[in-house]
Amino acid sequence: MKKTILLFTLSLVLINCKTAVKKEKTIGLVTQKAMVVSAREEASKIGTDILKKGGNAFDAMVATELALAVAFPYAGNIGGGGFMVYRKNDGEIGALDYREKAPLASSKDMFLDTDRNVIKGKSTFGSMAVGIPGTVAGVFEAHRKFGTLPMEEILQPVIELAKRGVIVTKKQEKRIQNFQSGFLKVNKDSILFNKNWKENDTIKYNALAATLTRIQKNGSDEFYKGETAEKLVSFIQANGGIMTLEDLAKYKAKWRTPITFNYDDLRIISMSPPSSGGICLAQIMNAIEPYDLDKFGHNSTKAIQVITEAERRAYADRSFFLGDPDFVKIPLKTLISKEYIAGRMNDFSFDKATKSEDVSHGSIKMTESDETTHYSIVDQFGNAISATTTINAGYGSKLYSSELGFFLNNEMDDFSSKTGVPNMFGLIGAKANEIAPEKRMLSSMTPTIVEKNGQLFMVVGTPGGSTIITSVLQTILNVHEYKMSMKEAVNASRFHHQWLPDNIKMEPDGFSTEIKTNLKNLGYNLDETNSPVIGKVAAILVLPNGKLEGGADKRGDDAAVGF
Ligand code: GLY
Repeated sequence: MKKTILLFTLSLVLINCKTAVKKEKTIGLVTQKAMVVSAREEASKIGTDILKKGGNAFDAMVATELALAVAFPYAGNIGGGGFMVYRKNDGEIGALDYREKAPLASSKDMFLDTDRNVIKGKSTFGSMAVGIPGTVAGVFEAHRKFGTLPMEEILQPVIELAKRGVIVTKKQEKRIQNFQSGFLKVNKDSILFNKNWKENDTIKYNALAATLTRIQKNGSDEFYKGETAEKLVSFIQANGGIMTLEDLAKYKAKWRTPITFNYDDLRIISMSPPSSGGICLAQIMNAIEPYDLDKFGHNSTKAIQVITEAERRAYADRSFFLGDPDFVKIPLKTLISKEYIAGRMNDFSFDKATKSEDVSHGSIKMTESDETTHYSIVDQFGNAISATTTINAGYGSKLYSSELGFFLNNEMDDFSSKTGVPNMFGLIGAKANEIAPEKRMLSSMTPTIVEKNGQLFMVVGTPGGSTIITSVLQTILNVHEYKMSMKEAVNASRFHHQWLPDNIKMEPDGFSTEIKTNLKNLGYNLDETNSPVIGKVAAILVLPNGKLEGGADKRGDDAAVGF
């Protein structure tokens, strides 16, 4: 009897312990059929409304992308460019490149002084930093090929949003304040964003509404050949830039073949060059696949080690081999082959950190931010879109056309201004990514779609400059290896290594002292100061019951909306 009571008590304790240890999953928004996740609720809602009207994911892409240009001027844009990866409900996949291009008058050494030193700020601030924008061409091309609703109908709610205005969030208030000196430095006159905007104020975007209304009426040609093109070129040239009407008229978005590879039972579909995203993701995932990451545990010393070492090697390859495939030959098949990657990992040991090559470079501050924005869409027909769009830095070049109502990108900084000299993300480039007229600058954007057993499983992407690739990686691993919900996977603490500088960037307070001490003892340099936020993921997971779970990153004002 006593024994029975003891056993009964023990099992109660065990059950209680188990309950205490087993954490309930925190789940994001779950919907039945369709979802849009983006950096602003207004944009996710406009995209979802287009789906509710019967539009497909490509229609919703146009609406979401342009709504972000209104509601999230920090990174959403018509003055920048991006990449989109799609998977249709019949399994067809593809990728659209609407990346900016270097102007015809650009040249390899355009950012160097007479002593061949990089001129500080020339590739990041003002008119010379601006690449030929691709966003308008991109959304019109996606719509031309796959859209179903009339463009006029898709643009209408976006124009109405611009006229009605968008409420300033706390995070936006801070961002606008932080960038005041840049706005004042670059622009001749004060701009809309020089006002002391506060949380809950409403900013009306009337100039942008007028530009979008002309685009609604005249199509993509309005931006590349019409009144908007003329105004844009006069504005840029008046500010000392080199963009011409010919540059705009020649711009075309391009369909590309996405990078595909397998990881366990997943098939990953990601962006091909001129983005480095898909290749680097493939290299890293192929390198870590043989290791028991799930057994090591999420963000454990061993997991961080093996991922870091794979990242180090992938980013070293990125720097040397990758550039615009229309200009340079990339040994793509080799770079992502399992044999090549296995060879690259041969010298990795759990006993101590590998050291990155000692390349001379300045100390890199990432405080300026690494802004880009990502949205993920799954429509009610089962089509999926993963799209990342950018003006590069927060508010791009800071050059804002008050007449047209938008910021211009500073994407020219994504080229390698000089071999071995890091760009604003600390990325080192070489010949493959040197500047040439009409060339596309290398990107890290990694819009990605994941299949499991041949079915749509996840749509994922993020902003974050050089940290985009590693944030996408960790989000996929969090779901696949660590069985997190989409929301948990997106919100979990992240780290990042990019070969040079030779340190692991870690989100502050995201890692235990024990793990950090272990890593330091193994010879890893840790950097928590430069990385308050790594990525801002927008993702959708298809649950086993076919419903959709949204992952809208807690690091931003991101929101999932669906039905
Ligand atoms: N502008 C950031 C990137 O394309 O990687």
